[in-house]
Amino acid sequence: MIILAIESSCDDTCVAILKDKEILANIVSSQIEFHNKYGGVMPELASRLHVEKITYVLNEALNKANLAIKDIDYIAFTVGPGLVGSLHVGMQTVKTLSLLLDKPLVPIHHLAGHIYANRFVKDFEYPLLALVVSGGNTELVYMEDELKFKIIGQTLDDAVGEAYDKVSRLLGTGYPGGPIIDKLAHEGQITYKLPLPKNDDSLDFSYSGLKSAVINLIHNLNQRKETYNVNDIAASFQDVATTILINKVKIALKKYPMIKTFVAAGGVSANLTLRDKLTKLLSDYPNISLILPKLALCGDNAAMIGMCAYYKIITNSYNNDLTISADAQYDLEEFSNK
Ligand code: KG4
Repeated sequence: MIILAIESSCDDTCVAILKDKEILANIVSSQIEFHNKYGGVMPELASRLHVEKITYVLNEALNKANLAIKDIDYIAFTVGPGLVGSLHVGMQTVKTLSLLLDKPLVPIHHLAGHIYANRFVKDFEYPLLALVVSGGNTELVYMEDELKFKIIGQTLDDAVGEAYDKVSRLLGTGYPGGPIIDKLAHEGQITYKLPLPKNDDSLDFSYSGLKSAVINLIHNLNQRKETYNVNDIAASFQDVATTILINKVKIALKKYPMIKTFVAAGGVSANLTLRDKLTKLLSDYPNISLILPKLALCGDNAAMIGMCAYYKIITNSYNNDLTISADAQYDLEEFSNK
């Protein structure tokens, strides 16, 4: 089966084409250069850029896959969560294609897509525990079975990727902050003691206090007229930001002792320190298979949407509904925190 997948939830215009689980094309048009000067994503600009790029990216994917639009069997797309204007562009594109080609739509939850990116590396065995870390989300997700998602822990305020982006803005090192801070951290030393945020025995996270702690640190250093190395601040922040993730994963593994697969998902799963720490932690759990997404598939992409759609199609568990809308509350039952 040929699956066309579109992801437009934030600032990347992405189209992928899969033949079953094989990627024939995976095109990502990044908007970073346009948002960079604002130090973060400008939602209105993101929507306009999606409108401008989507047909080019679609054509490029078809050319790369050496297919014509009529060869498509299913049309998968990100239904949410994300920026409503950005989601709408993808949604109207796929609705038009669906009517034109008379092919079914397969709506996919963005975070389910991130989790299923790991399926390009290895198959899943259940129960599965996922650490979902991106610019908008920080969650621990328990999967009892295929496509059954239950949030068992989440951030109470900022997401970890958001904290990276804000700290980078503070240090004046650029956007998106994650990859930049990750690189600087490897060139610095853990010099400053920052508090481990929400270091309790719950599975929830909090990152806004850590961001404030970095603001206070810089403020105090400046007041004392002490010179400091930005790389050392990056290293100190990264150590705490990743240690708290590991602490929470440890608690979840204790609470859910039957876990057979552990996966990391989302943009922050590209973080080298986090990947090292997870590898080290999971080496103490020989019965759990650790899967880390390929670096190229950590950030937003449409291949992950196509992969999740593949499982929805073969299990016949999708809702081909042309009345669906990004600003309506999309069906979150599949991703419940009950
Ligand atoms: O998953 P993603 O591409 O988009 C969302 O769905 O949010 O994640 C983007 C986030 C940004 O906050 C970015 O700074 C962060 O992922 N990120 C990283 C790294 N690469 C990207 N954070 C830490 N270390 C990285 N190497």
